[in-house]
Amino acid sequence: MDHYAVFGHPVAHSRSPWIHARFAAATGVSLRYRRIDAAPACFEIAVRAFFAGGGHGANVTLPHKHAACALADVVLPRARGAGAVNTLTALPDGRIAGDNTDGTGLVVDLVDNHGVGLAGRRVLLIGAGGAAAGVLDALLATRPAVLCVVNRTPERARALATARDAARIDAGGFELLERVPAFDVVINATAASLDGKTPPVPAHCIAAHSVCYDLAYAAGGTAFNAWAHAQGAAQVLQGTGMLVEQAAESFRLWRGVRPPTAEIRTRLDRLLDAG
Ligand code: ATR
Repeated sequence: MDHYAVFGHPVAHSRSPWIHARFAAATGVSLRYRRIDAAPACFEIAVRAFFAGGGHGANVTLPHKHAACALADVVLPRARGAGAVNTLTALPDGRIAGDNTDGTGLVVDLVDNHGVGLAGRRVLLIGAGGAAAGVLDALLATRPAVLCVVNRTPERARALATARDAARIDAGGFELLERVPAFDVVINATAASLDGKTPPVPAHCIAAHSVCYDLAYAAGGTAFNAWAHAQGAAQVLQGTGMLVEQAAESFRLWRGVRPPTAEIRTRLDRLLDAG
């Protein structure tokens, strides 16, 4: 039986074992997928022991995504751009490859699952931490007409833009939003929702046709979701779909087949609402 794991600290909350067990059932394979709680000081040793012991692949969650990028022998372009790895794969020659499926997961959820167009649209990404860095390249690849990145600490947003094609990104602090037209798609990649807070986005940024997406998720929706509803956004979404889609992309890297996600996304939403 092939062995997989998710490394995090803490990791007890991770839904990944549940999701991958369902992918395995849906694609008719038998695999073992477990949680491994590794403190930062032990992360590299734990990962190397896992792969030396025959592990096939691993997901990596907070706080280890940067460390995973540093330890991977081969870093794929999606991960290099993000500076973070969320998927490790054992290569036949014994090396470990690092990839990042977060951005693909977000774009698949928006475009394929929810029919949200990004090409030629005005897109606002809020936040400039690890979560924002993980999805920025995938958003750029969809060729939005405008991609604006704003952050509480403006220098971090500018640094993200400079590390890419700065000419294609409007980056800065929230004051950048004072005199701009509404956005078609607004994505919250800040950690504000985790504290029940919303980033200070002016109300005029949301129009009746806007789609608002929070990378975070919570039973009944996040604080940002509630704010977006109050502004009258057309569609208000949270990150459960992205969670399932990034996992499906990891599964594809490991097994060569992309599992179906619709039923699992519905079940995960129900699980979340049930607490
Ligand atoms: P993550 O990996 O989850 O992105 P991070 O790298 O610590 O974590 O980044 C957190 C992001 O949320 C940052 O963009 C942070 O803004 P700063 O760079 O100014 O710290 C943002 N953030 C956190 N709390 C926020 C709040 N209450 N309002 C607005 N932005 C917030």
